[in-house]
Amino acid sequence: VENALQPKYLQGKKILITAGPTFERIDAVRGITNSSSGKMGFAIAKAAIEAGAEVILVAGPTPLPTPLGARRVNVSSSQEMLGAVNAEVPRVDIFVSVAAVADYYVLNPSEQKIKKDAHILTLELAPNPDILANVAGLAEPPFCVGFAAESENLLEYGEQKRRRKKLPLLVANQVQDAMGAEDNEVFLLDDHGQHKLNRAPKLDIARAILQHTAKLYREYHN
Ligand code: CTP
Ligand code: CA
Repeated sequence: VENALQPKYLQGKKILITAGPTFERIDAVRGITNSSSGKMGFAIAKAAIEAGAEVILVAGPTPLPTPLGARRVNVSSSQEMLGAVNAEVPRVDIFVSVAAVADYYVLNPSEQKIKKDAHILTLELAPNPDILANVAGLAEPPFCVGFAAESENLLEYGEQKRRRKKLPLLVANQVQDAMGAEDNEVFLLDDHGQHKLNRAPKLDIARAILQHTAKLYREYHN
């Protein structure tokens, strides 16, 4: 519970957020992307500003307006997102990785528009680095919050992901519920266990995620 006399719960904290899809170029006019709208990440940015944080929002391609007060860095490919994150991460207290980062990039994108012919076209895809796992593995990482988009076995896969990436907090959501939608329903997974946030508008979910993040952040830093 907050009032005008209490400091806001993220006052003085610097938060880096990734949001939206990425776009991996195939040729001069085409690319591979996904159905992330960016709404959840932008809601986190808005909620973080409300809570008094300084916000850097690294955004993949999305038409969403920049939340008032956020510093936005636009990127397209996962490689660009990695570069933007690495440039900012040494100075932040908290990293919230909401972006739906492409797991693969196109090995040899064509400078020119690829012409059609009657044959099967094969694209070669190579794995992208995991931005979040890299940040969480730094010698002095910021407090890292991951997301997991799963289409099945939500809690099991989510907890596996949290452990593999060494995250103090992971937000697990069902892709069928989350992607592109106005509302979301998520599970918060941390060292204490799991906690459900019932279906609500993404801004409400974002506020609850950040309140939980601030609480855990204080536990880790005391
Ligand atoms: N993530 C990232 N960089 C990547 C891939 C994912 O930073 N190259 C981050 C996402 O922003 C999210 C978390 O890792 O916070 C989990 O992403 P998700 O796609 O659910 O998991 P993956 O580890 O990529 O595994 P998979 O897609 O196979 O389920
Ligand atoms: Ca993935």
